[in-house]
Amino acid sequence: MLILAPMQGLTEILFRKTYSLLFPDAFDYAISPFLSITHGNLRDAGKKVEDVLPENNQCSMPVVPQLLGHECEGFVELSNRLYELGYNEVNWNMGCPMRRVAAKHRGSGILPYPDEVDSILSYVIPRIKPSLSVKVRLGYNNPDDIDKIIPILNRFPLKNVTVHPRIGRQLYSGVPNLDKLEEILPEIKHKVIYNGDIFTAGDYGRIRARFPQITDVMIGRGALYNPLLPLQIRQRYASDFTSSVVDNHATPCEFINTLIDNIITMPVGNEAKCRKIKEYWCLLSKSLPGTEERKRRVLHADCLDAILREIFSMTK
Ligand SMILES: Cc1cc2nc3c(=O)[nH]c(=O)nc-3n(C[C@H](O)[C@H](O)[C@H](O)COP(=O)(O)O)c2cc1C
Repeated sequence: MLILAPMQGLTEILFRKTYSLLFPDAFDYAISPFLSITHGNLRDAGKKVEDVLPENNQCSMPVVPQLLGHECEGFVELSNRLYELGYNEVNWNMGCPMRRVAAKHRGSGILPYPDEVDSILSYVIPRIKPSLSVKVRLGYNNPDDIDKIIPILNRFPLKNVTVHPRIGRQLYSGVPNLDKLEEILPEIKHKVIYNGDIFTAGDYGRIRARFPQITDVMIGRGALYNPLLPLQIRQRYASDFTSSVVDNHATPCEFINTLIDNIITMPVGNEAKCRKIKEYWCLLSKSLPGTEERKRRVLHADCLDAILREIFSMTK
């Protein structure tokens, strides 16, 4: 299976809807960018919760809501509200590397504290109705943090464990630590999903070749650098997948134009629209021909009209 990674500010519903409309066969499902557990009940979660409300998620790519935090009661309350909304699985984020998050023992910041992980899972698992999956890094400061986390995860009935084999302090620098992944893989009793630096179909093939027991892969930035990537993987490694891919799919230009059309109709001011388009452009423009200098002009344009003129001169 191919899973779209959660990326705060990027893979919210606007992206998921546009993407799955143009490339319905690409991803099997997505994990949503995290909802903070401190939001507790959905009423107080504000705008972010709109991202997982079923009425906003009428698209062919199913989504699993992700939760971030360590407040047990909020964890249970939010999980069970999501279950009432129809979600059979929630994902717990133990990977977020942001310092202000990690400093509070949230995201990857909880990995050096196995006792906390143990007491949270002991409290939460018997009380939540949806099944739980987790997304982890190898540690925060130390890739060996995971050694003490795995036996704890093994004691609980988790749906799966997604491993991004970096430590939190690295953010996204360096390369995934595949040697450490190889060491820990036999220790993890749950289904493991691989995540990290799949930017080409060949990257996918190398992970599958080195870790044949891993059949599910989560892709984040690679799908924004090249929206066709999941389709290219499915075509090149067709025997890994149950369904085949149609050849007459949309192009990256069509995808970018449709995404921008959808951003333009968002009920926000022009400044916010410009910011959003530029955020996507930094990643999506890599899939287009054209010089870097020409692509940079979009980032320097100072009003919506100018941004659109620059982009459409490359995509239409
Ligand atoms: C801008 C950005 C936002 C992210 N937001 C989340 C998030 O909300 N939850 C999460 O678990 N991971 C988040 N991640 C991490 C990604 O899900 C993924 O683990 C990471 O990008 C590595 O995978 P990749 O190499 O395929 O991109 C984020 C990453 C980026 C770059």
